[in-house]
Amino acid sequence: MNRGTSVVNKSEHRPTLIAVPDNDQRCLSATFKICFIPKRIPTDVRFDATNYLFHMTRRFHNLATEPCHSDNVDFSVQFTHRLRFTGDLLGADSDVLADLLESSECRAPRVQFWIDAHVAEANPDIRHRLHIFARRNQQRFQVIGNPQLVPGGESVKNDVHILERILKVLNEADMDRRSYVVVIGGGAVLDAVGFATAIAHRGLRLIRIPTTTLAQADSGIGVKNGVNLFHKKNWLGAFAVPWGVINDRAILDSLSDRDFRCGFAEAVKVALLKDSDFFARILRDAKAIFDRGGECWGVIEESARWHLRHITAGGDPFEMLEARPLDFGHWSAHKLEAMSDFELRHGEAVAVGVAVDTVYSSLVHGFPAEDVDRVLTSLEQLGLLIDHPALQQTEVLFDGLEEFRQHLGGRLTLTMLAAIGSPIEVHEIDRQRMAQAIQIVQNRVLVGRRP
Ligand SMILES: NC(=O)c1ccc[n+]([C@@H]2O[C@H](COP(=O)([O-])OP(=O)(O)OC[C@H]3O[C@@H](n4cnc5c(N)ncnc54)[C@H](O)[C@@H]3O)[C@@H](O)[C@H]2O)c1
Ligand SMILES: [Zn+2]
Repeated sequence: MNRGTSVVNKSEHRPTLIAVPDNDQRCLSATFKICFIPKRIPTDVRFDATNYLFHMTRRFHNLATEPCHSDNVDFSVQFTHRLRFTGDLLGADSDVLADLLESSECRAPRVQFWIDAHVAEANPDIRHRLHIFARRNQQRFQVIGNPQLVPGGESVKNDVHILERILKVLNEADMDRRSYVVVIGGGAVLDAVGFATAIAHRGLRLIRIPTTTLAQADSGIGVKNGVNLFHKKNWLGAFAVPWGVINDRAILDSLSDRDFRCGFAEAVKVALLKDSDFFARILRDAKAIFDRGGECWGVIEESARWHLRHITAGGDPFEMLEARPLDFGHWSAHKLEAMSDFELRHGEAVAVGVAVDTVYSSLVHGFPAEDVDRVLTSLEQLGLLIDHPALQQTEVLFDGLEEFRQHLGGRLTLTMLAAIGSPIEVHEIDRQRMAQAIQIVQNRVLVGRRP
């Protein structure tokens, strides 16, 4: 037989190939693929299934007989990360923002402002100040509409409809790939608005103005954007390098003490991973930082620079490799946030995670015992709790290990510490020892609470 033959299963109108050209068995694999053409052939485009299968079989036959080709071509793309530090961005230093809003081919760029609703509430004059800023610079750029408000905190990441609304507004404003979205807010708002700008037209220009210590010291500098889905942190997201980031001191004035402390959990984390002198400085200044003294700024700046260095010179900004070296303490932190129904702030959860993984590192990886005390003391003096009731549900907590692995794919890869400034990668966790580490942290808190 020279042609493929088909029969039509009358009940389903599903063509099924029952014979193939018998002179070339290589057609067989193609034949099976052809069997998966649409189950139901719409009546108005009914066609001769025998002919169709014959042509398809020939096509696959040709493909199968062509020699194989493969090309692996390495390439790299140049990015610029623009990080600025200011004292009063919406006042004396507003040119720093204006200078970032570069025009393209002499056309004034379109700019849209997005603000964390809690920031707007705590700074009632912010919209007026942005209006003055826009008017003063109307020759340089065109501000589109009024600043848009989005809910502050994790709720903006937990409701995917907010993402849809952001996208609709960007569309209605005709934002294009040379337009700027300037987002002013905490890490959650930066993540959500940043994700929308990363996917609209495959990427608008994003300028982040982080308004929390955590976002200034850590998340605002990074290249990750995303929202939560399926009750999992950052399940939906994208890597995108922001056009610029401006860390402004004045914008932190309205931040609550609770949120102000959170950023220093990430500063401790990065110091433990990268630089023992930096850690010693945080420990020395911890009480002053707790009181929001001037020592805070140097620590936030140093932490931001470590994150910048990691992204620009660390060799893996988009986390293609197995490890997430900056995520020390984060496997449990992400799980604890979800277990507490996001009542726990990210920075608070990180403090707990860092405490637990530091103790675990001492039990399993030789991290010096005297430094365990220094690390836990630094967190406590910064006003960060190192315990949470959810830690007791160890079985649920340990699901966080698998979720952490899934997020990256491949083997489980966690960062632990051999010493301060000496991170190591590990691929398995001794759960008994981890439970013991949790117990040690909890006992310390209990003892500390005794009168
Ligand atoms: N993209 C990343 O690389 C990355 C890294 C770490 C954390 N994160 C994410 O960041 C989020 C946490 O961010 P966060 O710690 O900045 O907290 P947050 O954004 O949840 O803000 C905390 C609260 O403070 C309010 N707020 C923010 N700035 C304020 C100000 N200046 N004055 C008054 N109120 C203000 C917010 O509206 C919110 O209610 C989490 O979703 C976390 O997953 C992302
Ligand atoms: Zn973090």
